[in-house]
Amino acid sequence: MKTGKATQAIHGRRDKSYRSANYPIYNSATFAVSKSSDYDHLDSDKDTHIYTRYSNPTIRNVEEKLAKLESTDGGVLFASGMAAITTTILTFAQNGDAIAVSSRLYGVAQRFLRDMAPQLGIDVHFLDADELYDLKEYAPTAKLVYFETPNNPTCACLSISEVVRAAQEIGALTVIDNTFATPINQNPAALGVDVIIHSATKYIGGHSDLMAGAALSDARHTAQIHEMMALWGGCSNPAEAALIDRSLKTLKVRVEAHNQTAQTLADFFSAEPKVRRVHYPGLSSSSDHAVASAQMSGYGGMLAIELESLSEAKTFCDKLQVALNATSLGSVETLVSLPVLTSHRSLSEEERERAGVTPGTIRISTGLEEVDDLIADFKQALAAI
Ligand SMILES: Cc1ncc(COP(=O)(O)O)c(C=O)c1O
Repeated sequence: MKTGKATQAIHGRRDKSYRSANYPIYNSATFAVSKSSDYDHLDSDKDTHIYTRYSNPTIRNVEEKLAKLESTDGGVLFASGMAAITTTILTFAQNGDAIAVSSRLYGVAQRFLRDMAPQLGIDVHFLDADELYDLKEYAPTAKLVYFETPNNPTCACLSISEVVRAAQEIGALTVIDNTFATPINQNPAALGVDVIIHSATKYIGGHSDLMAGAALSDARHTAQIHEMMALWGGCSNPAEAALIDRSLKTLKVRVEAHNQTAQTLADFFSAEPKVRRVHYPGLSSSSDHAVASAQMSGYGGMLAIELESLSEAKTFCDKLQVALNATSLGSVETLVSLPVLTSHRSLSEEERERAGVTPGTIRISTGLEEVDDLIADFKQALAAI
């Protein structure tokens, strides 16, 4: 039966023993075989589990749900978003390979690509939007293209179809970090992206109480990523997977509420004279609005504002009474963070400038509180600067 996203996120595997509404937590590192010859069928039987680093029914249930939500054949759950990013990139890029990556990325992913990948012999080309749309010219030998849209922290958007077209021209694999958008607002597989990554710590988890990541793809690429996950060892665990399963059941309603609150806050900040700039693709005045409208069904719960200076931004964050001054995003609590002190602190000034991050940039992850309370909180914090 063809089902919609809310249904897919709620209903996964069924508990055949007791018909529990929640799929059981198989809290075991190992699973016994009934006879030694069961090992002969390991590769063909996807439901024979022997060791949780390879697979576990509770984890598999979540992988299947996420794959459905992103319209892929399969997926691999990881211990964190960074484990999903690094393992996926290292699955498809080895010593001697070139890869093309966006110059606007989550700062820690950027640091891995800037500092670690070259140590492994990978030639990393950091490219701006127009260069990513012309890979034949700017990175013709790239084997893989890695990008985010909307990106962390300024929610700038890349045209997914344009990146896919450019990558296909040079035969490169496309890998997107879809964390900011969520599978509710954006489905890159429908636009031809090969691998979709999430930090499930964010919207998919949604409650600031778990760490996880996921890579979702067709059967062939999923098998390759799964093999590398088992070798590098960044697996998830059944307790975390059960929390994710719980969270997925409300993903659609949460994301829709986040979308609405972010739009209201973006409109509010746009009218505030102390705010120099508001970054939100849902604003019709945003330079990203047309691209986002073409590929997103909702504009997301993330926005960023720019104040005059880091000192103003610090004062603003320190005055907040409802929102928390905390890194991370995608949670029920509204979280604000200063990228120059958190997610993008290890980047040089030049790299931050290229990524559009100014000292006064404040990233806002809208929560699910009453929007009027958030506006009152932000108003009194603005009044203090
Ligand atoms: C867009 C994006 N991708 C990936 C990550 C990394 O995820 P994790 O913290 O789960 O490793 C983050 C973390 O903030 C992020 O914002």
